[in-house]
Amino acid sequence: MSFYSKISGLGFYVPETIVTNDDLSKQMETSDEWIIERTGIKERRFFTEGKDSVSSMGARAAKIALERANKTPADVDMLVFATLSPDYYFPGSGVLAQRELGLRQIPCFDVRQQCSGFIYALSLADQYIKTGSAKTVLVIGSEIQSNIMEISDRGRNMSVIFGDGAGACVLEAHTKKRKGLLSTHLHADGKYAEELMLQHPGSRKKKRVTQEMIDSGELLPNMNGKLVFMNAVKYFPEVIREALAYNNLKESDIDLLVPHQANQRITLAVQKEFGLSDDRVVSNIHKYGNTTAASIPIALTEAWESGRIKDGDLICLASFGSGFTWASALIRW
Ligand code: UT7
Repeated sequence: MSFYSKISGLGFYVPETIVTNDDLSKQMETSDEWIIERTGIKERRFFTEGKDSVSSMGARAAKIALERANKTPADVDMLVFATLSPDYYFPGSGVLAQRELGLRQIPCFDVRQQCSGFIYALSLADQYIKTGSAKTVLVIGSEIQSNIMEISDRGRNMSVIFGDGAGACVLEAHTKKRKGLLSTHLHADGKYAEELMLQHPGSRKKKRVTQEMIDSGELLPNMNGKLVFMNAVKYFPEVIREALAYNNLKESDIDLLVPHQANQRITLAVQKEFGLSDDRVVSNIHKYGNTTAASIPIALTEAWESGRIKDGDLICLASFGSGFTWASALIRW
């Protein structure tokens, strides 16, 4: 018997603290107008220390997804956790979410593919389901990025963009070939690794953290925004077309595009390229900013909650980000 996977439950959690563009403008040289015009972001969520952690936020999102899938923690036989901002350097956040959710002694992966992390995680889960090795897999994307950035003039090019949040789905085995997750396509090109990175603390230096690193801002992430933008608008369409061609589908077959929420201008460029009307593209970047590995599951969950996804719809997920990595997934709901 051949197995395929389908999403049977979705959930998300965002921290309660809302930080508006005006709030940021009070702490750095920026403005609501600049941020909205360049990114489409109006506000984002910042975590509360002691209440939220990457693993606990992911676990909250996963609990909702499990309930909606009518599953208990005992049903889960694998966990894949995507994040660039794990609770600890090691072990990964997967085992912490496992503990919090009360899952059995199942395999837990951490996936480190940044903005493409969720689709990479979904793909990994799908392979285990297709080989019959797993029946019910929890896939989580969760990030706390507000404490990686610096809310200052020095950190403004990145700190206005990124936010905190978590999303999750239950991926379940079934036997209908043309239903559920139709395909995933994953890519990477490490030649751009340093164009969007957080270098320290890393293992290349004898001293992982020095006063000099703190003073010079080397502990902050670094992004070549224009290069990332140019590559994003190239690779988003490419990887979407690859998925459509693989499945013998046309651009006009897409009912709903759920892109990684990187920048509203990137989303609009992709939307224009495929000639999709607003009702066929999900955008929530104005509320949450870029939540990296969490952005697709949050956007997918919101779309599902608001009734934008119907049985039989063709849903396209797509991402691009640090690595560079880029990916797509096609789902027949
Ligand atoms: O999730 C995937 C990873 N990330 C992305 O996909 C991000 C892709 N890139 C982008 O979204 C855009 O490049 C940014 C939103 C990051 C920047 O937009 P941009 O239109 O490329 O602006 P820029 O970096 O060229 O900066 C334009 C100006 C500069 O001033 P000058 O040199 O023209 O005087 C910046 O110093 O805007 C200035 N600037 C700011 N001004 C106000 C940079 N950041 C800010 C800020 N507020 N926060």
